[in-house]
Amino acid sequence: MLIALGVTGGIGAYKAVEVARGLQKRGHDVVAVMTAAAARFVGPITFEAITRRRVVLDQFEPGANAGIEHIALASTIDLLLVAPATANAIGKLANGIADDALTTLYVATRAPVLLAPSMNSQMFAHEAVRKNLDALAARGVRFVEPGEGYLACGWIGKGRLAEPEEIVAAAESILQPAGPLRGRRVLVTAGPTLEDIDPVRFIGNRSSGRMGFAIAAEAARRGAEVALVAGPTAIPPPPVGEVVRVRSAAEMHREVLARADDADVVIMAAAVADYAPAGPAGQKMAKTDGPITLALRPTPDILAELGNRRVAAGRGPVLVGFAAETGDLLARAAAKRARKRADLIVANDVSRSDAGFDVDSNEVTIIGPDGAAPLPLQGKDRVAAAILDRVERMLAGTPATSPQPFVEPDRG
Ligand code: PMT
Repeated sequence: MLIALGVTGGIGAYKAVEVARGLQKRGHDVVAVMTAAAARFVGPITFEAITRRRVVLDQFEPGANAGIEHIALASTIDLLLVAPATANAIGKLANGIADDALTTLYVATRAPVLLAPSMNSQMFAHEAVRKNLDALAARGVRFVEPGEGYLACGWIGKGRLAEPEEIVAAAESILQPAGPLRGRRVLVTAGPTLEDIDPVRFIGNRSSGRMGFAIAAEAARRGAEVALVAGPTAIPPPPVGEVVRVRSAAEMHREVLARADDADVVIMAAAVADYAPAGPAGQKMAKTDGPITLALRPTPDILAELGNRRVAAGRGPVLVGFAAETGDLLARAAAKRARKRADLIVANDVSRSDAGFDVDSNEVTIIGPDGAAPLPLQGKDRVAAAILDRVERMLAGTPATSPQPFVEPDRG
């Protein structure tokens, strides 16, 4: 595959050299397209030596297909990857400004586009940048989220260019969509929800997002078009088709319901709050001497609502829920499957220190129409693969992207 590697002028530009090498090691052909600012951070000769191709620096360079190189390249590349993508470059791409070889290539190509943003954390959080990122996401552009930590500018926060291996893996997942879930739409939820008590306090839980992220990544690897609705997490989500960030159960409810009708499969791994403060205080609540009582109201049960909608319609996506329990695991999980009218429930004993919340491993039992299948303790990526194997069997023989006939689970 031919990949145009756009390099813009940020300190992460040196890591783009490793990205180019990583892509080549996986058999891809890379052509570097550098902005003038990028060339001040890393010499074009470095990319030329590594890619063994002329580096595209100037769209009007004489003697090199002058003026039309971006068009020739636009129709031959399989992916445009920009790493690092600075706030300036993101702004230009979002607004269709084509004033150099890279930004012109973006406007001219119909190849998938993957951006790895990198900038100061304040810049990354700025409303103007967020709006530009949202506009690009709405256009189908995908992202490798920046990492957190010390930034070159001396700040600590989110904005550091993702690691080269992560960027290469994201590019690969876009370039190799063939797989058993090709043509299927999979909607996954992950992470916690946070329910505000007042402007500075909230009720949350220990979900890290790892389980849901592993499912989303595995579904994408199998060729599915993945939408991931995720609560606030410290770890970045995988680069899947659509990542929607939410905070509360109400927001997750809205975003999941907006997408569920188009999905072949919905997998709810998020730890959604069951209750939220009845009326969050507008001001920080003052400390009092005595105990206080917090009034809570139940949140919408998203999984149960999807289950009920399926019953009403007689068809709907394959529905997979999780059951996080600290006792009487299988009986409680089976009861949840029946009550929420899910096809599969993944029973998760969260009282253990090596399974469930905020660890890399998990031990679950998948409960379906044909009984309970216990799985060994293993990495969450393996658990995700086992769940999707099971989902694939349920989808077998049904056409892609169409609702499945619904068979009511045994509610006994
Ligand atoms: O994120 P990690 O750190 O990797 O941890 C993974 C996990 C422990 C969060 C995950 O494996 C897990 O068990 N997720 C479900 C947590 C949960 O909320 O379980 P529950 O038994 O309370 O809910 C049952 C099901 O209903 C879940 O699919 C949940 O997403 C859904 N639900 C719950 C409440 C609500 N208001 N709406 C819902 O849709």
